Amino acid sequence: MTTGLELGQPQAQAIHSDEDVVRVRQLVRTVAVAVKLSLVDQTKLVTAASELARNTLVYGGGGTVEVATVDNGRRRGVRIIFADTGPGIPDLDLALTDGYTTGGGLGLGLSGARRLVDEFDIRTGPGEGTTVTIVKWSR
Ligand SMILES: Nc1ncnc2c1ncn2[C@@H]1O[C@H](COP(=O)(O)OP(=O)(O)OP(=O)(O)O)[C@@H](O)[C@H]1O
Ligand SMILES: [Mg+2]
Repeated sequence: MTTGLELGQPQAQAIHSDEDVVRVRQLVRTVAVAVKLSLVDQTKLVTAASELARNTLVYGGGGTVEVATVDNGRRRGVRIIFADTGPGIPDLDLALTDGYTTGGGLGLGLSGARRLVDEFDIRTGPGEGTTVTIVKWSR
């Protein structure tokens, strides 16, 4: 995974309510516009971020998000890191399978988010919490 060099100060926010999830969507849209992602890519990134923010809230018991502008020498991009100190995901392969849910959802949040971004990384385990990092590059 290539996350690039940070440009400027990342913006951090807590995720503890539905309103916070809405704020995450707004923040991600703003940064995606600033980096000049296409409208389609903006929407893909906002959708992925929305799913991951919701997982942080629902399964992680709340947490934080950090949104940064990054540069890999060729392109600029948006890097987003979701972190919680919840129960973690015991079987990550299973959790990434389309349709797998422990919460009565569609089970498409994680797998869908992965398909919508350029870089996707999860650090998780029982009792370790969960940290998801995604990047979308301008093209
Ligand atoms: N931050 C997290 N902490 C703990 N478990 C998680 C976390 N994120 C996802 N999971 C686990 O992975 C499963 C799959 O997540 P995913 O987002 O794909 O589906 P969902 O949230 O259940 O449904 P959907 O997102 O489609 O409404 C969840 O049901 C949950 O068990
Ligand atoms: Mg989900």
